[in-house]
Amino acid sequence: MNLELKGKAVIVTGGSKGIGRAIALGMLAEGADVLACARGAEALAALAAGAPKSGGRLETVAADLTDAGAIELVAARCAQAFGRVDILVNNAGSARTGEFLELDDQAWLDDWRLKFFGYVRMARSAIPLMERGGGGVIVNIIGAAALNPRRTYMVGGAANAALNHFTKALADEGARRGVRVVGVNPGPIMTERLLKMRAGLLGANPGASDAFSRMTPLGRAGTPEEVADLTMFLASPRAAFIHGANITIDGGYTQGLMG
Ligand SMILES: NC(=O)c1ccc[n+]([C@@H]2O[C@H](COP(=O)([O-])OP(=O)(O)OC[C@H]3O[C@@H](n4cnc5c(N)ncnc54)[C@H](OP(=O)(O)O)[C@@H]3O)[C@@H](O)[C@H]2O)c1
Repeated sequence: MNLELKGKAVIVTGGSKGIGRAIALGMLAEGADVLACARGAEALAALAAGAPKSGGRLETVAADLTDAGAIELVAARCAQAFGRVDILVNNAGSARTGEFLELDDQAWLDDWRLKFFGYVRMARSAIPLMERGGGGVIVNIIGAAALNPRRTYMVGGAANAALNHFTKALADEGARRGVRVVGVNPGPIMTERLLKMRAGLLGANPGASDAFSRMTPLGRAGTPEEVADLTMFLASPRAAFIHGANITIDGGYTQGLMG
């Protein structure tokens, strides 16, 4: 299938590692031009070193997306480098686990600043630039925790639930502006973030060594490339009628009727 992504200008937040890195590399291989941002310059340089030689152009920006000003600069940099913004993949995010009574306001606010407001602010910056070019697509990488409330992952789970709502409401707004909006809810995906969580689990409980193989009915965690493939399809013109949908990719982890 030709995804018709060649020549598209794409912003991938958190594009230096894990799911974001796989999306950035996948988009480049499809011939799209990619602006990848993250805080650490070293991982961004490693991304550039591993980029396909015959693909689209790659620009990298070191930026902390908890900072509203940095978000404006990232969007502007894409328009400056490629002359347009066609696709925004909101991906940079993380939230802590913890006991409810031990997580104070600051902990909630700190994590929501990236995982919720980072997505909202990035969309608000990108939409006018997309409109200028005749439209665009926003893909929010959210998380299946939205659909599976757990007492020790409330900060992230609640942010994910809010982002599922945001995706649908933003689709309503985007329809008036030629901007298609979709969400992706990954379950456990084998990235640095998941490995760190696994290390935490192992520290507390040596019997948890196969915790991730038991985490999904398919008996494994997903790969970043599997999420990237879904994201590229959703961002492509081949998915032109998918709008306001939050799509789960979790190896069967979510057992409710939704997702
Ligand atoms: N892996 C999973 O199992 C899983 C499951 C559900 C949902 N998700 C969601 O999928 C997304 C990607 O997760 P991942 O597992 O690929 O994470 P990851 O491997 O930890 O990569 C996160 C990326 O975001 C960047 N980043 C982190 N904080 C940032 C900040 N303040 N400003 C700018 N960039 C920042 C990181 O680079 P720097 O650290 O250098 O900034 C890195 O490039 C996240 O939103 C996560 O919540 C993941």
